This record gives sequence, structure tokens and C-alpha cells, in this order.
Amino acid sequence: MDNSKIKRYTVTAALPYTNGPVHIGHLAGVYIPADIYARFLRSNKRDVKFICGSDENGVPITLKAKREGITPQEVVDKYHKIIGDSFKEFGISFDIYHRTSSLTHHQTAADFFETLYDKGVFTEEVTEQYYDATAKQFLADRYITGTCPNCGNENAYGDQCENCGTTLNATDLINPKSTLSGDKPILKETKNWFLPLDKYENRLREYIESHKEWRPNVYGQCQSWLNAGLQPRAMTRDLDWGVHVPLRDAAGKVLYVWFDAPIGYISATKELCNYAKLDVWNPKAEEYYISNFESDKCDWEEYWKSDETKLVHFIGKDNIVFHCIIFPAMLMAHGDYTLADNVPANEFLNLEGQKISTSKNWAVWLNEYLREFEGKQDVLRYVLTATAPETKDNDFTWKDFQARNNNELVAVFGNFINRVVVLTHKYFNGIVPTMMEITPVDQAVIDELATYPEKISASIENYRFREALSEVMNVARLGNKYLAETEPWKVIKTDEDRVRTILNISLQIAANLQILIEPFLPFTEERLMKMLKNGGHTWDAAGGINLLKRGHEIGEAVLLFEKIEDAEIEFQIEKLNKSKASNAASIAEALPVKENIQFDDFTAMDIRVATIVAAEKVPKTKKLLKLTVNTGIDERTVVSGIAEHYQPEDIVGKQVSIIVNLAPREIKGILSQGMILMAENAAGKLTFVSPVDKFGEGSVIR
Ligand code: MF3
Ligand code: ZN
Repeated sequence: MDNSKIKRYTVTAALPYTNGPVHIGHLAGVYIPADIYARFLRSNKRDVKFICGSDENGVPITLKAKREGITPQEVVDKYHKIIGDSFKEFGISFDIYHRTSSLTHHQTAADFFETLYDKGVFTEEVTEQYYDATAKQFLADRYITGTCPNCGNENAYGDQCENCGTTLNATDLINPKSTLSGDKPILKETKNWFLPLDKYENRLREYIESHKEWRPNVYGQCQSWLNAGLQPRAMTRDLDWGVHVPLRDAAGKVLYVWFDAPIGYISATKELCNYAKLDVWNPKAEEYYISNFESDKCDWEEYWKSDETKLVHFIGKDNIVFHCIIFPAMLMAHGDYTLADNVPANEFLNLEGQKISTSKNWAVWLNEYLREFEGKQDVLRYVLTATAPETKDNDFTWKDFQARNNNELVAVFGNFINRVVVLTHKYFNGIVPTMMEITPVDQAVIDELATYPEKISASIENYRFREALSEVMNVARLGNKYLAETEPWKVIKTDEDRVRTILNISLQIAANLQILIEPFLPFTEERLMKMLKNGGHTWDAAGGINLLKRGHEIGEAVLLFEKIEDAEIEFQIEKLNKSKASNAASIAEALPVKENIQFDDFTAMDIRVATIVAAEKVPKTKKLLKLTVNTGIDERTVVSGIAEHYQPEDIVGKQVSIIVNLAPREIKGILSQGMILMAENAAGKLTFVSPVDKFGEGSVIR
């Protein structure tokens, strides 16, 4: 978008599901980058609304309620508070943290649906859905379990088998059972309203292709959806929790959660501009309510319906299709709205080499972190930004956390600030000294300093937050290098005026750091503000050397960061190992032992050594890879549910075990001949079963 045209920004962060607390993966993937961006814009005096809230509708909430034996409302109330508190504690500076169970949201979403309905956008389709005659309700896919037609797992869900990873339709299940009554569900006709995405395909393609600057992972995913061809998608569901479909013949139906959730951004903006007193987090008031600042009054439509507004969605990669295809199609169908200018989706953050998992308690929970590392919000913000999964999945490890704290925050940033402040007190009683004569060494530092703000701005504006943060650290490195070169502690013995200049310049660097670090580490900025008794500067002042006036008195030195000891890190690793152990203890539960078979059943299987010769992703699936394997007998195609564990390019050439006489089956339109054997642990991690030494293809395994 042409920068000179931009009058205001609408920055959204994915609305978290209120079915559990948030962990470091959420923070790293969505909320920290979004917060950096919003803070940066504010520091540049841009008009920005930073929008978020709780996603409180949909099946995940009703399932959680059922599991905990409480009502869906109780579930969302509980987690709305917990999640909101975590965001607040980590300084995520939303202008509003709204919720989709609010009246404003229900009205906004229903209105939006009605507008599309009146325009004749939807098609009505009658389909057969599973229905629980005892519970008298239609069953969402997750409410049905049965035997997986692929692997025989008896506890497969109606949308997916978690054992073999196959995506399923509820009607594929053998012996389906309702999780509500335990009965066998019956098929019953039901009418729902579909958004004909296929009709928007051309406009969507045009939209996506006008944004070649998007991150390759985002752009690529959009292209593959478009290339696969879009299908109409139901925008209503038979469910009793959510926004009721505002039509006469729609009793017992609610809006599809992915229809109403993104409208949550719009309803939150309305709420923000209208000042209803709701349970929302306002960073200005530092409270969970909206204060009626007259200056905050705004017109929500300006933030959504103007081509002078830049709309940016921060999301995780599993949300790409909803924000880049479905929501834009909804907005196009409506007609009045502006489309997102960018959707900087992050990849996933792993923890100590494993996928973060709520159910396996393989996570760092924000509330626990704060209990154990009190006051160290910025350390986590720093590490999660420095290792952000911007272009590929990344790994958080406690050792790396410790190293970055000790070697970067303490040794580089904290050390520089501390030396400058301590020396100023020691030599000049805490008064900013006058800059005297400038040497070439000084000038070089002043010139270099002046180049940073623009560099950092460019990185942030292009959503490269890791790069931006590392440039800010380079400013601190510049300061350290300057002190090491000029050695004021030696020069003081002979030339006090020279030290005046050195410390003045060093203090200016410190004041620059205060501005530049604010979007990333707001708590550090606050401490710097107190230490330097310096506030109110905005981004445009950065780069200059007159931020602290001579004669200004600074405050006492306080340590910005402290060393994290081995014992603290070992404690964290120990804690994770405990959850690993308790997961392993439940291996028999996670992967139950099957009934005995006869020797003939075993010998009936023909298992061979094979080599993977080619591998590619199966489009529109998360888990499937299409493999070409050399079995020694032939070269054949096998579809395997391993895409979340291996990259196609990494497995070509690997030796594997394959059942060659398994009856061929069609999976996603591909004929799969045989099955690759995988070992799976209780955490759901997969690895190939391969001969220890390279072995001839076709060798028999028995
Ligand atoms: N609740 C969804 C998730 O956690 C994200 C919703 S984003 C929204 O994956 F735009 F739809 F709200
Ligand atoms: Zn299965």
C-alpha cells in the first residue's frame, strides 16, 4: 500500500479460543509481533487501533464444557479472564480486548449475515448429517467417534483419526457412536447456508496476486488453495452455542465459528469506538474497562471501510485460509469493506524439539512463567522475538533462553546502560555533561547511530521483527564498543573535558535505545525512563544526539536484567521432563495394547525394506505426503500421514519399512499402494522404522 495514502491502521491479532490458557507459542506466533507493530506505529504518532478479543463460539468451547462438566458460558468466562490477564501482564497493548459472546458481537455478526442473505449471496443446501435421536441434536464431527477405516483405531473422531492422521468425514467411520448418548447416530436431513467461494475465486486470485510482497509461506498457501479450486462452504451449523442464524427457518442453527470470529475484529472496533462499559482491557486506563476519554472517540467505519486505512492481520499459520480466502470473500460479498494489506502469519514454535501440546502439558504457560520469573516479562518477549518462527518452525529451549538473557540482555544491553549511568554519577554527580570538542571517533559513532532508526523502521514495516530487534541490539553494541575504545575511566585522570563529551554521547545512545527498544521491551523502556528521567520522546527523535539536554539530572542506576543461573534452567527442564515422564507412563493409555493375533495373521503381512525416491505434500492436507518408493519389486506410490513430522526434501533417500501386500486404497484421489511403518511415542511423535544398516530394497522383514 502506498505509504503516503495511509491515514490510519487497523491491526488485528487472532482471537484466541477460550478453551484454555495461552502459552509461549501463542505469544511468539501472534501477540508479540502484533504488539511490536502496534507500539511502533504509535511511537510514530500514527493513528492505530490494535484489536483483539476472545473467540468464544464454536465446537471447541462446547467440548471443553462437556469435559469439565460446566456450561459453555462458564468456560468462556473463566478463560476470557485468564487469557486477558496474561496479555495484560505481558504488556500486549490492545486498544480493546473484546469477546465474541458480547451483545455487540452477536448483533454485528447477525447483521453481517443478514446483509449477505438479502443480497442473495448464500446458496441453501440440504445435506444429511448425523443426528443423535436421544440427545435430540445434530452432531458436529467431533461429537462422533468410531473405527477409522484406514488404520482400525476404534477412537477416531468424525473429522480425523488421530492415530493415523487421516482426514475423515463423519460418514466414513465404521460403527459411529455419538459421544453425547453413546447411541448410534442416525442420518437426518438438514438445511444450511453456504458461501459459494468458487464464485469469488477470480477476485480472490486477483487480490492475492496483487500482494506478491506477502511472506512466501502465506502467499504459497493461498496459491495452493486457489489452484486446488474453491468449494462452497457451509456458513451455518446445527449447534446450540454461538450466534443464532437470524432467519425464520433456522431454529437450532448458529453461524459457523469461522464466519463469526473474524467479524469479531469489527465488533471489537465498534465497541472500542462506542465506549460501552464491557470487560475489556484498556492499556491507557490500565484497567479492564473502557474509560470515556473524549479524545478516544472514533468512527469505527473509518477503520474498516476506507481505502486510506491499512488493515493488517497477525495470525498463526493454521489460520491462513480463513484470513486470506474466506474472510476476504465475505468482505467482498458484503461490498463495503477494505481488504487486508498484509497477513504476516508465523510458523510454529516448538518447545525443546517437540510440538507444543496442551493435552500433554508440553508447554510453557504464561501464568506459570510469571510466577517463576517474576518481573521478567521482557526476557521472554526478547527471546521469543529473537527466535520468532517468522519463516520456518523454530525451537524454544531453556538453554537458549538462558544464553540470550546472559549473553545478550545482561552482557550487551544492560551492561552498556549500567556503565553509562554509573559513570555519569561517579564523575558528574548524575548531571548530563556538556559536549565539548568532537573527535573523528565520536563523529563516526554519531553518524552510525543516525542510520539505525530508518533501518529498524524498514524491518518492522516489512514485518521482520527478529531482524529489527537485532539491529536495536547493534545500537547497544555500538555503545559498548565506543566505551571500550574511548576508555573514559582512564581518560578521567588526565582530561575531564574529553570525558564530558564521551559520556554525553554515551547518554544520547542510551536515550536512543530507550526509544528504539520500546516496541519490543516496553517494561525495559519504563525502567530506562525512570533511570534517565527521560520520557515523551517518539520515534522521530531517534537517531539524534540531543535527547538528553546538558544539565539534566538522571536517576539512580538500577539493573535492567540479571543473570539467570543454571539452577533455574535445570528446574524448568526438570519440570518438562516430569510431564514427559507422566506422558510416557501413560503410553499404554495413549497407545493401548491390541488383542492377541495368531502366527498366521502375522505371516500374512508382507513387509519389505524400501527406499523413498520422491516425496511431495498432498495439496489441501496438513498431514499427508505422497511418497514414491522403490520396493525392490517395483516403484509405487504410497500416501503417508507424516507431513507434520518430515519435510519432503529431508526424506528422499531414506530407507523405510513398507507393507507391500496391503490392499490399495484411494486417499484424496491418490491410489496408495501399501503402508509405511512408523514408530509413534506417547507424545504422538513419529519416526521411520528403518534397517540399522543400509540394506537391499525388497529385503523381507519378519
Ligand atoms: N480462535 C482461532 C484460533 O485460535 C483464531 C480466530 S481468529 C479470528 O485458531 F479472526 F477468526 F477471530
Ligand atoms: Zn486411523
